[in-house]
Amino acid sequence: MTINKKPVEVPDSMKERKLVEFLREELDLTGVKNACEMKSCGACAVLVNNKSIRICNSVLKDVENCDVLTIEGMENEDGTLHPLQKAFIDYGAIQCGFCTPGMVLTAHAFLMENPKPTREQIRKALQSNLCRCTGYQQIIDAVEAASEFYRK
Ligand code: FES
Ligand code: FES
Repeated sequence: MTINKKPVEVPDSMKERKLVEFLREELDLTGVKNACEMKSCGACAVLVNNKSIRICNSVLKDVENCDVLTIEGMENEDGTLHPLQKAFIDYGAIQCGFCTPGMVLTAHAFLMENPKPTREQIRKALQSNLCRCTGYQQIIDAVEAASEFYRK
C-alpha cells in the first residue's frame, strides 16, 4: 500500500492488525482518531483510493494495495497547508480539533467529486461527521470557501 504517497510494506504477521492503531502507534500519524469504534462519528475517517472511509473496524489487509491518505499527507509539497486545511483555520472551524482530521478528509473527498457544491450539499456530505464542539456553521463556511480551489 501507500500511506501519504510513500510505499509501506506490511509483513503477513501484521495483516490482521487494526489500521487505526497501525497508523497512530507505528507511523505516529495521530491525526486519525479512534473514538466510537462503531463507524458512527467519522473521527477515524481517512481517504482510501480517494474515498472517505471510516477505518475504526478495518485491519491492514483491508487496504492491501490501496492508497491511504491521512490528514498529515494533505499538506503541500513545500510543507504549507492545503487550502482546505487553511480555510478551516481562517473560518474558525476548529475548536478542540478532535473531529477536524475526519471532517477535512471527508470534505476533501467530497470536493474532489463536487467542486461546486451548494451549502445544502456540503451539509449532507458532512452530516454524519460529528463535532462534539458543535461548530458546524463554521465548518460549512470553510468547506464552501475552499471549494473554489477545487474548480481550478
Ligand atoms: S471512530 Fe470510526 S466512526 Fe467513530
Ligand atoms: S472541534 Fe471539537 S469535536 Fe469538532
